[in-house]
Amino acid sequence: MNQIIPSSLFALTLLSSLSSPSLTHAQCHFPAIFNFGDSNSDTGGLSAAFGQAGPPHGSSFFGSPAGRYCDGRLVIDFIAESLGLPYLSAFLDSVGSNFSHGANFATAGSPIRALNTTLRQSGFSPFSLDVQFTQFYNFHNRSQTVRSHGGIYTTILPEADSFSQALYTFDIGQNDLTAAYFANKTVEQVETEVPEIISQFRNAIKNVYGQGGRYFWIHNTGPIGCLAYVIEWFPIKASDFDSHGCVTPLNNLAQRFNYALKQAVIELRASLSEAVISYLDVYSIKHELFLHAQGHGFKRSLVSCCGHGGKYNYKKGIGCGKKIIVKGKEIYIGKPCDEPDKAVVWDGVHFTQAANKFIFDKIAPGLNMACHRQ
Ligand SMILES: *[C@@H]1O[C@H](CO)[C@@H](O)[C@H](O)[C@H]1NC(C)=O
Ligand SMILES: *[C@@H]1O[C@H](CO)[C@@H](O)[C@H](O)[C@H]1NC(C)=O
Ligand SMILES: *[C@@H]1O[C@H](CO)[C@@H](O)[C@H](O)[C@H]1NC(C)=O
Ligand SMILES: *[C@@H]1O[C@H](CO)[C@@H](O)[C@H](O)[C@H]1NC(C)=O
Repeated sequence: MNQIIPSSLFALTLLSSLSSPSLTHAQCHFPAIFNFGDSNSDTGGLSAAFGQAGPPHGSSFFGSPAGRYCDGRLVIDFIAESLGLPYLSAFLDSVGSNFSHGANFATAGSPIRALNTTLRQSGFSPFSLDVQFTQFYNFHNRSQTVRSHGGIYTTILPEADSFSQALYTFDIGQNDLTAAYFANKTVEQVETEVPEIISQFRNAIKNVYGQGGRYFWIHNTGPIGCLAYVIEWFPIKASDFDSHGCVTPLNNLAQRFNYALKQAVIELRASLSEAVISYLDVYSIKHELFLHAQGHGFKRSLVSCCGHGGKYNYKKGIGCGKKIIVKGKEIYIGKPCDEPDKAVVWDGVHFTQAANKFIFDKIAPGLNMACHRQ
């Protein structure tokens, strides 16, 4: 799947994947964002529950760790900025949060399907999509009761109308694929699980719709075969690498997932008559960035900016921000590369702020159409 996408054609592909937009429509106004997902859009959830992602996370923008697995802003932060909304507080963060314009239920490591392993066993988050929906349901319900008490509550909790007018954003699925792969399943075995994973995703969208959500913004999953933490997990035979250094069977797996996700979106558009569902092909954008990083002003693509050792400046267990003991000496993996703004991958797992901005710029035109039914 070594597809080369010229950028003009690429923009067209992206637009056609949105819900039949009509360019003459007025700009959309979303008073709130409710986000569901994994580390691609976690603004502090996992940090609140399991401990802070330490320095140098956040160093390019926030100046200190900000609950994000990134040197700066995530795509969801750029979306919030562009809609004129504050950055989303993590639902799980009970200190200093302000939910007047939405809440973020995403945590790093979240899968769609609940796993049967704990975070300590497998590294995946217990806040799977069904749990995130339960949290949203509680938030929706209880925020209105508490808001009715008046005072400060009216300034930190959303108005009742916000729930039907909000943009509901989703970026989740990557961990379902990697969790199965890391559990020693073959790519073919993981593929057989895709229908069940997508079925649970579909239920989540229907549940949010049942709670009054109408505007959905769904990112597909990225090219996991280009990320060091997936490539480094098992020895992979040379013939599985494409000419850009990405692993073809793993990228094909992501594409199979995305194909099923897109079919589900088409079905949901038909069955949820009042919903507007935007499907964003972030796979193609991320893949394009890996393929032509230099053409887009980047200096490093597969090699991560913050990490230690190995071909990709990434080793399992020696991640960005960690302290390790080597021959009795403590080594702190705390110094990012010289130009994080010229790197695609931050820590072998996640994208840099610069890459997130690149991704956002490609999907941003869709935000003006995300409230218009065809
Ligand atoms: C977890 O275990 C249950 C019960 O055995 C099973 O139905 C489910 O598919 C398992 N989940 C995963 C992700 O393997
Ligand atoms: C909140 O939940 C209670 C029951 O748990 C229910 O009676 C009530 O109608 C719900 N309120 C809203 C606003 O959904
Ligand atoms: C919460 O955020 C809103 C929007 O930015 C702001 O108007 C409000 O004053 C904030 N509330 C508090 C208590 O900081
Ligand atoms: C996967 O295989 C490796 C090597 O055979 C083994 O060490 C590891 O325990 C296996 N993991 C699981 C989850 O079965």
